[in-house]
This record gives sequence, structure tokens and C-alpha cells, in this order.
Amino acid sequence: MSLKIGVVGFGQRAGLWRHAHRPDDGIEVTVVCDTSERGRSDAAATLPEATVTADLEVLLGSGIDAVLVTTPDHQHRAVAVPALEAGIAVFCEKPMATTLDDCDAILRAGHENKTRLYLGHNMRHMPAITQLRELITDGRIGEVKTIWCRHFVSHGGDYYFKDWHADRRNSTGLLLQKGAHDLDVIHWLAGGYSTAVSAMGALAVYGDITDRRDRTGERMGEWFSLDNWPPTSLTGLNPVVDVEDISMMQLRLDNGVLASYQQCHFTPDYWRNYTVIGTEGRIENFGDGPGDKIGLWNRRHMGYAEPDETTIIAGGIGGHGGADTLMIAEFLRFAAEGGPTRTSPIAARQAVAAALLATDSIRGDNSCLPIPALDPDLIQYYEDGQA
Ligand SMILES: NC(=O)c1ccc[n+]([C@@H]2O[C@H](COP(=O)([O-])OP(=O)(O)OC[C@H]3O[C@@H](n4cnc5c(N)ncnc54)[C@H](O)[C@@H]3O)[C@@H](O)[C@H]2O)c1
Repeated sequence: MSLKIGVVGFGQRAGLWRHAHRPDDGIEVTVVCDTSERGRSDAAATLPEATVTADLEVLLGSGIDAVLVTTPDHQHRAVAVPALEAGIAVFCEKPMATTLDDCDAILRAGHENKTRLYLGHNMRHMPAITQLRELITDGRIGEVKTIWCRHFVSHGGDYYFKDWHADRRNSTGLLLQKGAHDLDVIHWLAGGYSTAVSAMGALAVYGDITDRRDRTGERMGEWFSLDNWPPTSLTGLNPVVDVEDISMMQLRLDNGVLASYQQCHFTPDYWRNYTVIGTEGRIENFGDGPGDKIGLWNRRHMGYAEPDETTIIAGGIGGHGGADTLMIAEFLRFAAEGGPTRTSPIAARQAVAAALLATDSIRGDNSCLPIPALDPDLIQYYEDGQA
């Protein structure tokens, strides 16, 4: 395999370049584009052999085969569409975009230009999730009927309330920005997509903190600390904070499965707790990292019972339990050769749709809102593997 790779947006997430830069295998990051001084100077220091530019046209015209789009969410379309039009295979970070218009424009650009599009939903490669899914597909709990996910985000204040994420003009909201992962996982575990959602939410804690400042030029790693506790003691929040720090949504899926997703950004601990209940049992994870556990109950019990069976969550090399390594390896193979992928552009769009409508429900009257349909030609093209 021989590939020349570009990276657009050299911030926190651009660390993925490490998995994509394998000169001994003929795969090389040759060009980086970032609109900020900080992004360009970090790129020049990290990848001295690469061309570094502020001009997307320079990157697109440099002869690359594939590009990693790691710009903020509202800047995915502006990069992904011209790259697809230029015939460059695209890896686009999650969430796919912040509006359905943007998602559908990206899907159309891939379809019309017959250029490969890959969505970076790394949780589909995370052992905690793949092992839950295996128990389901092995038939260990019968037919899935309901999925409940509770998401405790202890790092919420540092991760999402001190930079662009906190401003809904950039992220829309955290149900989309953070929840897109879990909405995709819920759809994947259930084997269906949401047809209607409702939600409630609030800016319950961080909105009251008046210590604000513009952190342009800083990086999250520079202000992150476990000592930033309790959440009400945080300082230096983004000047605009208008996204919810607690959200609770319900989903009705096209195969009859009912699901719920709860997200809180001021918990002491940081993990996701899924339970999936089927016609013949229930599974639940306790912790979501290597060495943590998944319980399976498939007999009837009196009161609380220890699981009938326990699975240990596997480890992996690299970020997110090894998911990032596996995901980028899958993208590189897909960019070079095509073929099936575990992540899906259609599923990524459906996760965005569920999150956007739930956010509308929160900011409206909490009513149940239908998910807008997607062009069947696009569904067909992507579900046929973009061939
Ligand atoms: N899958 C995951 O686990 C995961 C984790 C973190 C972030 N992300 C995603 O990665 C993306 C980037 O997040 P981040 O935390 O790295 O953000 P960041 O703010 O740390 O970095 C973004 C970089 O993009 C640059 N940029 C902004 N607009 C640009 C444009 N139009 N062209 C070129 N450069 C531009 C900025 O100058 C900055 O250097 C987001 O979509 C986020 O949701 C995914």
C-alpha cells in the first residue's frame, strides 16, 4: 500500500496522524493545513518533513490520496466537500457535521464524485462496545428490545466549556458533539435507526460561572487537570457558554426498539454505562476500559443478582482502548482498496439527525420530533459499499 496523506485541522484530535504516518509501509503524512498560527507551528514542529499551509487549495493540489479532517464540527463540510470533489478519500471526524444540510452535502459529494468517504466513529472499534455487540449478535440475550445509556463526563468542564465546544454556533450542543458517539452505538447495537426522539436538558452548572476568557492559541491539554474540582470551582470558561451540561433523550427506532441516552458533564467519574435488554436476558458494562467488566444475566433471579456470566473488557494499543489504531488502519485500507468498513456514513448521518432533533426538542417544548428522511439513492449507494 502506498498513500500520501494530508491532515486538515492540527489540534487535539490531529494526534491521529501518528497512526497514519508509517513511512516504512509507504504511507506518509505529507501536508498539513490549519487556519491558526498555533496549529501550523505545532504541525511544523511535529512533522518537519511535511508541507504546512493555511491554504486548503495548496493541500488539495499537493497530490495526496487521502485526508484526515480534524477541524471543529462546524468546519467539516467546508473541508470534506472540496476534498471529495478533488477525488481525495476523506476521513471525517465525528460528528459528521452540525446540520443535516451539511451532512447531506458531504454524502452527495462522495456519491457524485465517486470518492471514498469514511466517518471516524471510533467507538465501533472500542472493545467495550464490540464485546457488548458480540454478546448480542451471538444471541445471548435474545431479541434486543431496549437500550439505556448513562454517560458520566467528569472531564466535561475542561473538555467542552473552555473553548469552541461551549458555543452552540460551533457545536450546536453537546448532545450532538459528544452524544453522536453513543447515538451511533445505540443504533448499531439495536440494528435500527431512530424515527423519532424527545429530550429534556439544561445548563445547570457551568452557566453560573462568570470567570470567562478567550483561550485562542491554547490547547485543552494545557488547562486539563483532575484538580479542577468541584465543577463550580472551574475558571476561565469560554466567553460564550450556551450549550446544555445535562441532557436526557428518548429514542424510538425503526425496528421497534426503544432507547434512552443520558449525558451529564459534571460527574466525578468518566465512563459510559450501557444496558441492553432482550427477550432472553440483559447485559451491562461496569467501566468501559481494558480490564473492566460486562455482566450477562440470562436466568431469572430473586432481587439483585451477580451476573450469570462476566466478560473482561479487552485492551488494545493506542487511544480509546486501541480503537483509534484500528479505525485509522481500517481507513487507510479503505482509502487504498475500498471494501467494507465497520463505520458507516449513513449511520453517522442518522446519529447527527437524532442528536439535532433531540436538541430541538430540548430547546423547544420537549415534544417528540420525527427524524427527516434521507434520499434513498444516497442510502443505496453507501449501503452498497460506495462501489
Ligand atoms: N472521535 C473522538 O474520540 C474525538 C475526540 C476528540 C475530538 N474529536 C473531533 O475532532 C474534531 C477536532 O476536535 P479537536 O478537539 O481536535 O479541536 P481543536 O480545537 O483542538 O483543533 C481544531 C484545529 O482545527 C483548526 N481549524 C479550524 N477551522 C479550520 C479550517 N476551516 N481549516 C483548517 N483548520 C481549521 C484550528 O485552528 C485547530 O488547530 C472535532 O470534530 C471533534 O468532535 C473526536
